Amino acid sequence: MSVINKKCECGKNSIYYKSYEGRAYCKRCLARQIEMNVKKTLRKDGLIKKGDKIAVAVSGGKDSCFLLYIINKIFRNVKGIDFFALCIDEGIKGYRKKSLDAAKKLCKMLDVKYYVVKFDDAFNYTIDKIMKRISDEKSRQKICTYCGVFKRYLINKEARKLNATKVAVGHNLDDEAESVLMNILRGDFNRFLRLGASPILIEDKKFVQRIKPIRNVSSDEIILYNKINKIPFYYQRCPYSYDNVRRDVKNIIDKLEKKYPGTKYQIVRFYDKLKPILLKRVKPNGKMKYCKICKEPTSRDICEACELLEKLKN
Ligand code: FES
Ligand code: ZN
Repeated sequence: MSVINKKCECGKNSIYYKSYEGRAYCKRCLARQIEMNVKKTLRKDGLIKKGDKIAVAVSGGKDSCFLLYIINKIFRNVKGIDFFALCIDEGIKGYRKKSLDAAKKLCKMLDVKYYVVKFDDAFNYTIDKIMKRISDEKSRQKICTYCGVFKRYLINKEARKLNATKVAVGHNLDDEAESVLMNILRGDFNRFLRLGASPILIEDKKFVQRIKPIRNVSSDEIILYNKINKIPFYYQRCPYSYDNVRRDVKNIIDKLEKKYPGTKYQIVRFYDKLKPILLKRVKPNGKMKYCKICKEPTSRDICEACELLEKLKN
């Protein structure tokens, strides 16, 4: 992102320069372009249709607040499409309360219904408690795995209980480019196939489809859009975010983007071209089963959440 002297095409002063487009944007044109970007993703991938009830996963961070704001803007007055915010409280002292306050503030501002679900109620564990429970440093570095697995599990279960037909998540362009590269580095072909605006799921009545309406909007653009529209959100990063593969990949991609503007966009476009070709030849692995312990859908005998909970008992 750079501010230049170039004027926006409309003649106004610019606030943002997209170097790979060679185009400067003023506030208004940038906001409009971002909204068009999201609408295009929704349309192209047919993400939201009449009859849908969307659970928007909102953490209070910049991406999910942007997601809720834009969904509200696009669908507020559309008949036959309903949405609400679903917030997860993982129990991280000094952090989650503040971010949830931002999420609630936005919901109230937009007059959107919201639900808060706590790890503690669902699993009898908070992330703080898990951190205390795990003694060795190596496992503590994997706290984000616990958090991610429990969060996905709970979002699916709660969204289903609330009769949602889809769960919208705030993955942006940067996240998507990182995921593409991360799965290549890990050699995780199955997860690689599951990326995209509407990841493939083995259809099941207990699974609520996940969609990523903002996957083509960059992190920089989201920050600007939030500023332009005075969208409340919480800035701090989770205190448990360790150095991990994603962080390294992020640093590499950010460096490349600086040197070769448009890199993130190109990685995601390349993936989008590749995926349909791959899907013609390979069937994604896994058959849907139900966890022997909790009866939630999984491709294994015991779901990941129950497996981690068992581990915590030892
Ligand atoms: Fe889950 Fe930080 S938000 S570990
Ligand atoms: Zn289970």
